[in-house]
Amino acid sequence: MTTLTDMTEAHTEVLTSYPPSADFAAAANATAALYDEAEADRLAFWAEQAHRLSWDTPFTEVLDWSQAPFAKWFVGGKLNVAYNCVDRHVEAGNGDRVAIHWEGEPVGDSRVLTYAQLKDEVCKAANALTELGLVAGDRVAIYMPMVPEAIVAMLACARLGVMHSVVFAGFSATALRARIEDAEAKLVITTDGQYRRGNAVSLKEAVDEAVKGQDCVQHVLVVRRTGIDVDWTDGRDLWWHEKVDAASTEHTPEAFDAEQPLFLLYTSGTTGKPKGIIHTSGGYLTQASYTHFNVFDIKTDTDIYWCTADIGWVTGHTYIVYGPLSNGATQVVYEGTPASPDEHRHFQVIEKYGVTIYYTAPTLIRTFMKWGREIAFAHDLSSLRLLGSVGEPINPEAWRWYRLVFGADATPIVDTWWQTETGAAMISPLPGVTDCKPGSAMRPLPGISAKIVDDDGNELQPSSDHGEHLTGYLVLDKPWPSMLRGIWGDPERFKETYWARFAEQGWYFAGDGARYGSDGEVWVLGRIDDVMNIAGHRISTAEVESALVGHAGVAEAAVVGASDDTTGQAICAFVILKAHHAEMSNEQMVDELRAEVAREISPIAKPREIHVVPELPKTRSGKIMRRLLRDVAEGRELGDTSTLVDPTVFEAIRAGKS
Ligand code: WTA
Repeated sequence: MTTLTDMTEAHTEVLTSYPPSADFAAAANATAALYDEAEADRLAFWAEQAHRLSWDTPFTEVLDWSQAPFAKWFVGGKLNVAYNCVDRHVEAGNGDRVAIHWEGEPVGDSRVLTYAQLKDEVCKAANALTELGLVAGDRVAIYMPMVPEAIVAMLACARLGVMHSVVFAGFSATALRARIEDAEAKLVITTDGQYRRGNAVSLKEAVDEAVKGQDCVQHVLVVRRTGIDVDWTDGRDLWWHEKVDAASTEHTPEAFDAEQPLFLLYTSGTTGKPKGIIHTSGGYLTQASYTHFNVFDIKTDTDIYWCTADIGWVTGHTYIVYGPLSNGATQVVYEGTPASPDEHRHFQVIEKYGVTIYYTAPTLIRTFMKWGREIAFAHDLSSLRLLGSVGEPINPEAWRWYRLVFGADATPIVDTWWQTETGAAMISPLPGVTDCKPGSAMRPLPGISAKIVDDDGNELQPSSDHGEHLTGYLVLDKPWPSMLRGIWGDPERFKETYWARFAEQGWYFAGDGARYGSDGEVWVLGRIDDVMNIAGHRISTAEVESALVGHAGVAEAAVVGASDDTTGQAICAFVILKAHHAEMSNEQMVDELRAEVAREISPIAKPREIHVVPELPKTRSGKIMRRLLRDVAEGRELGDTSTLVDPTVFEAIRAGKS
C-alpha cells in the first residue's frame, strides 16, 4: 500500500490560480447559484436535474436510501435511456443535427451521423437484437474499436433494457473470456479487425478464443471494419451488415424502471478478479447529462465536442455516449491512436472539425509535451474554448502547458475527478465559476458531497500554503444519482470494498488519498490501495502478479507501481524464478514474461521493468512489503525495514536490479 505519509512527502502545491475570463463566465451554462440551490435542498436539486430527461412515468420519490448501501434513485419513474439520447432530439426537430463526426484511423476515412440517422441505426440494431432473442435483463459483451457501430450497439442494448458490458478492444482473449463468463453474456458484438497504427489486425480471433466452449454465448455479431479474413462458425456468427442492415428502422422504445440495470463495466480491484460495476438508468443518465451540460458548458448549436477516451472505459460511456447524446451535442469520435499516421493527428482533427471542447487524459498531455509544442503550433487551434482532463492527477506543469499550447493561455481547464464506480464527474471546477489551481480538481460539484478524513473519520483541516500538508482518505459522504448499484454477482464484495472502511458513518470509500488546499479545495493524490494507475488505466498489482506466476518458470512475483514521467505510474515487477528454468537466460525470461502479461491481460499491463531477484521482502506474517519494493523501484532510501524477516534480502534485490 502507498501510505499516506509517502504522499505527503511527494507533494508540493503551486499557488497561482486561474479565474475564468469575464466573457466565458457571462455565457456559461453553470453559475454559482447551482451551489446554493443544491445546498438549500439537495434532493430537490437532483429532482430538478432529473427533469433534464424525458420521463415516461414521473418518479414519486427522489432517493430511497433505506437499503443502504444499495440506493434507489427516482423511485417509480420510468424512462427509456436510448429514447432520451436519440429519439427525443429528432422529435424536437433536430434530426438533421450532426450527432457524430466519425474520423477513422486511415486518413480520409470518415462518416457523419445525424441524430435522425443515429435513430435509424439504433432502431435497426434493436430490432436485430430482439430477433436474436435478447430480452430486458440479458447481457451483451461489446468488444470493438471506436467505430460508430459500437455506440449504436450500446444504445440498442439500452433501448431494450439489455445490459451491455463493453470490454476494451486492447484486452486479451483471456480477459474477454473472464468478463463474458462472469456476466454470462448471450451475445458478443465485435469487428473482424481493427486498425493499429496503419495496420489491420484481427479482433474476431480473440473473440473466437474467448467464446470457445462457453455455453452462454449464442451468437457473435461481427461488423466488417477492415475486410481481413476471419474464421466463421456457421449458426453462431452473423454479419452486422446482413443482420442489422436488413432490420426495420421502426422500433417503439419501451419505458423501463429508473433502476433498470443499464450496463456492467469491469474494473480492477485489489484482488486479481475484476469487479463488474453495475450502473442503472435514471440516476446515471441524470448525472451524466447534468455534469456534461455544466462541466463542459455544452452549447448544442455551436460546440463541437471531442472526448478522446475509448468506449472501453467509463469515460467513453459517460462522456462519449450518454452525456453528450442525452444533451443532443455534436461530437467528434476518433478511431485511432494520437500518432497515427504521425504526431499531428489530434491537432489536425481539432482543426478539421473546429473542435471547441477537448477532453483528454494527463498521460496524453505529457506525451504531447514530449513531442514538443511546435507540433501543436503548426495548427490553428483557435476554435478551442474549453479543455478537460481525467483519469489521474494532472501535474501542474502539464496543466499549464495544456492551457498554454492548446488553450492560448486563455481557456478554462476542468480537471474532473471521478471513477468507474461514481459513474459521472464528482469533483471538478465549473468552468465559468471556479478559479482553478493547476493540479487540483477543486470542489465537489453542486449536489455532490465529499470529505477528506483521517483514519478515524475526522475531517482534515485545509492545509496552509507552507509547511506540512495533511493527507487523508477521500470519502463520499452522501449518495449521488450515478453511484454504482453493486458488483455483479457479489454484493458482499461491494459492501466490503466500498462501505466497510467507514461503515459506522455510512460513507463511500473511494480508495484515493487526498488533501485540502489553502482554500479548502481538494487535491487528489492517487490510489492508496494496491491498484496502479498506468496511463489512466486501473490495473491491480494482484492481476499482474497472477499473470506472472501463471508462467511455469515463476515461483513468486511482486508488482508495484513506480512513478513514470509519461504514464504517471509504470509497472515494476520483481520475480523469483524456479530453479529448473536456469537453462533460459534472465533476459529471455524477462521478454517472455512481458509477453505473457500482454497475452493474459493486455499490452497496457506489460511491466516496464521485470527484475529477477533471489528473494522478496516479507513481514513475519508473510505479507510482501510493497512499500519497500517501491522504494527500490524508485531508487529511494529504504523506509523502515524493522518488520522484515530478513533485512539483508535488499542487498540481493538491489544486486538483481542493477
Ligand atoms: C484516478 C476514470 C486525480 C483516481 C474516470 C480514481 C483521478 C481513478 C482523476 C478512477 C483526477 C481519475 N484527478 N485522480 N481528475 N480522475 N482519477 O475508474 O485514482 O478508470 O480513483 O475512472 O482514477 O479510475 P477509473
